[in-house]
Amino acid sequence: MFKILSNEKIAPAVFRMDLEAALVAKKAAGGQFVMIRIDEKGERIPLTIADINGKNITIVYQVVGVTTHKLTEKKAGSALEDVVGPLGHATDARKFGTVCCIGGGVGIAELYPVVRAYKNAGNKVIVIIGARNKELVIFKDKLSKVCDEIFVTTDDGSDGEKGFVSNVLKRLMDSGANIDLVYAVGPAVMMKVVADMTRPAGIKTLASLNTVLVDGTGMCGSCRIEVAGETRFACVDGPEFDAHEVNFEEMMARQSLFKDKEAHACKIRGILQ
Ligand SMILES: Cc1cc2nc3c(=O)[nH]c(=O)nc-3n(C[C@H](O)[C@H](O)[C@H](O)COP(=O)(O)OP(=O)(O)OC[C@H]3O[C@@H](n4cnc5c(N)ncnc54)[C@H](O)[C@@H]3O)c2cc1C
Ligand code: FES
Repeated sequence: MFKILSNEKIAPAVFRMDLEAALVAKKAAGGQFVMIRIDEKGERIPLTIADINGKNITIVYQVVGVTTHKLTEKKAGSALEDVVGPLGHATDARKFGTVCCIGGGVGIAELYPVVRAYKNAGNKVIVIIGARNKELVIFKDKLSKVCDEIFVTTDDGSDGEKGFVSNVLKRLMDSGANIDLVYAVGPAVMMKVVADMTRPAGIKTLASLNTVLVDGTGMCGSCRIEVAGETRFACVDGPEFDAHEVNFEEMMARQSLFKDKEAHACKIRGILQ
């Protein structure tokens, strides 16, 4: 059992949970994730390790369905049945020069340990974060402390500049900024737009993919994705891949494979989606 130290709402439908998970924390690095199970009958879901503090880890989750809804009901002092990890490859945080890290929605929290790792490796790190509105802009202060420059965008202009993260990236590229690496995590469509923008400019771009994971250890095939024309597994080969090689159309189609069942599961439990 893994003790929950805190479980707080930090934005509409977004919660931050601190967990005691000493063995996970000991080995975890930016870009990796855990598979959690609330109780012995619960489904396993992947959540990125958003921070590591001694023997504790932080996860930040958006409430989208049954399991994430059930997570909101867990109180500090109670426990999760399983926290398996760290899983996936850690971010290859070498010195590249100037790295532009882009996060959308709850992906902003997932970006934090990655930004810190790139900064610690001696890179200049530019962060661009975007959300629908001001209330959904999370981790702004935390990220500001570990990067060189930060840009915020909101769809409605209530924080930072109005528009999408890709608008800022385009402006930076058009102004001749020397960007050596782009890293993107967030909605698939955002990562696709970023990849389409950097491909012609030849800027190496990584995307952290969020396909549907079941076992998280390379056995079931549910997280398969086409990368450079080959089948890869997001859980064991990723979750980060060369964004220019990812078949995002296929990925987006596969993400909604279980939509009917997920909606049904919410309906029978009286959880509104
Ligand atoms: C490597 C990885 C890291 C992730 N990190 C985070 C994170 O840090 N914070 C966060 O809020 N979300 C993260 N996600 C997505 C998160 O796992 C899903 O939102 C969660 O599983 C939804 O479960 P649910 O029962 O609440 O919703 P459901 O109603 O079951 O599903 C809602 C939507 O969530 C996605 N989803 C459902 N089950 C899974 C699954 N087993 N694996 C992946 N996606 C699923 C699907 O797109 C689905 O349509 C990550 C996904 C991956 C693959
Ligand atoms: S989640 Fe089963 S193979 Fe990746």
